[in-house]
Amino acid sequence: MLPYTISSNSHALAGPRDAAFYQDPCAFYKSVHAVSPTFFWEDYGHWCFAGFGEVSALLRDKRFGRQILHVATREQLGLPEPKQHTAAFDQTEKYSLLNLEPPAHTRLRALVNRAFVSRNVEQLRPRIERLANELIDGFAADGEVELLKAYAAPIPAIVIAEMIGLPADMAMQLVSWSNRMVTMYMFGVTHETELDANQAAAEFMDYLGGVIAERRSKPREDLLTHMITAEIDGQKLSDEEILSTAILLLNAGHEATVHTTGNGIKAILESGIDPARVFADEAQTAATVEECLRFDAPLHMFTRYALSDIELEGGRNFKLGDTIGLMLAAANRDPTRFADADSFDPFRGDGANVSFGAGIHFCIGAPLARIELQVALKALFKRLPRLRLASEPKYRDTYHFHGLERLDVRF
Ligand code: HEM
Repeated sequence: MLPYTISSNSHALAGPRDAAFYQDPCAFYKSVHAVSPTFFWEDYGHWCFAGFGEVSALLRDKRFGRQILHVATREQLGLPEPKQHTAAFDQTEKYSLLNLEPPAHTRLRALVNRAFVSRNVEQLRPRIERLANELIDGFAADGEVELLKAYAAPIPAIVIAEMIGLPADMAMQLVSWSNRMVTMYMFGVTHETELDANQAAAEFMDYLGGVIAERRSKPREDLLTHMITAEIDGQKLSDEEILSTAILLLNAGHEATVHTTGNGIKAILESGIDPARVFADEAQTAATVEECLRFDAPLHMFTRYALSDIELEGGRNFKLGDTIGLMLAAANRDPTRFADADSFDPFRGDGANVSFGAGIHFCIGAPLARIELQVALKALFKRLPRLRLASEPKYRDTYHFHGLERLDVRF
């Protein structure tokens, strides 16, 4: 039996924790595209959009926002009060760019944006190449390796740690805190998950608080020092704002990149296409990375609140505070936008994707992630031309995050 249904009245049932579903959410998206790309997902209890045009437009639509409490109270919206046992986690979220809307969002984003623009992150390319090659040196003689732990995770984790100004040997601790915290964004969060995510947030804040104090007395050339000393409109950031921003950058700075690396290696190996062709030159390498992002996106759904009562074109109505789901990975497989949408084709002429979002929350780390992916994938296939899967990779039970449990390869 299929792990999902979608009825002619556009209502879908698909359990995000059902292995048959999360091993292949794109099978569900295929049905959705065939029956109704705008659908009410019963398991989540809100409307979702899977069309490429709709998702791109709604991400940019200022009538929807990631935050709602700047236009209405919890009481008005019938939202529960914050939970005592997630206070530390909520604290890290309070000034997260992802939880702010203008003007607060504009001010904070402007402060960190410069470090992440293409011109600046391009300077990191030689460092990332060195790091990738050193990691490959570490296992090249072994004939086999689990790539997520040995390669995919350390690259983005070390790069973002060094940018913020934390020692590279903290990288795997950062990955662990982050992995525990992001469980809060998954479907079906339990009390135990909340307690653990909260504990991770408390430990993370405690550690960073110490580093911030250190930088105040001994400034350095790093992003943390920049956040401490920079002023916008004559105002400095508060410690709370610095903590939230640093934790967001550290977490977002590796979670999705790790899984795009894993998913991309899997897609290339399973396609049977000669790696020498997909990394033939700079332009083809960039196109291959874009196709990896389109074909097997690491983040599948982001939500928005209706900031007022809204009637969308086509007549669908939303009330203030209603949630909508924007299905990034499904949009990437829209058959009305992409020829042969379900096949991996690094040479396609109609390449595009919404894996980094769009609009004011467009991923600030996209230029950095693209360089990391280009370098990591190309170096791996160049150094290990006989790379092949040692076992069938399985996805983790972490929807809407979509990444592998492990990636065992031989070479
Ligand atoms: C393949 C890797 C990555 C993917 C697919 C990805 C995806 C995304 C998406 C979809 C959003 C927007 C969410 C929304 O609109 O609700 C976002 C936002 C963000 N990403 Fe990424 N990301 C990646 C890597 C990175 C990296 C390396 C950084 C490091 C700095 C980063 C930092 C951020 C931040 C700070 C935001 C919030 C921006 C804002 O709200 O203004 N991301 N990312």
